[in-house]
Amino acid sequence: MLRGFRQFDAPVSLVLTYDKYLEPAAITHFGLGSLAYGIVLAAWERGIGCVINGQGIMQSDVVREHANIPDDQNIMICIAMGYPDESFPANDVRSTRAENSTFVTYVGFE
Ligand SMILES: Cc1cc2nc3c(=O)[nH]c(=O)nc-3n(C[C@H](O)[C@H](O)[C@H](O)COP(=O)(O)O)c2cc1C
Repeated sequence: MLRGFRQFDAPVSLVLTYDKYLEPAAITHFGLGSLAYGIVLAAWERGIGCVINGQGIMQSDVVREHANIPDDQNIMICIAMGYPDESFPANDVRSTRAENSTFVTYVGFE
């Protein structure tokens, strides 16, 4: 948990922000989620691991200062990135997933 506040000690952290004037920004939040997903998939294809990391922006004043993020930007999320250390025990954790049938409704398909 504590490592999450240190960006998992990754060498790179992307901070995704958006212009404050876009508020209320629900569709922007959706767009940044899509962007984050695209970044993670593209990075992984090149062997670079990612953690989309809400913890990393909880101290947003510190992030803003060190990443030189201007006041007209809202900080949305960050992504820790780096080559995975397969020997690190936490990287062996595999999440379990609910079956699609428990939360997806299929209409028009048998
Ligand atoms: C919006 C968002 C915020 C997240 N924030 C954190 C976080 O603060 N700390 C953490 O350890 N994982 C966080 N995660 C989870 C990791 O990114 C996780 O590795 C990713 O969801 C894929 O792993 P999974 O297969 O276990 O779901 C977050 C995920 C998302 C989508």
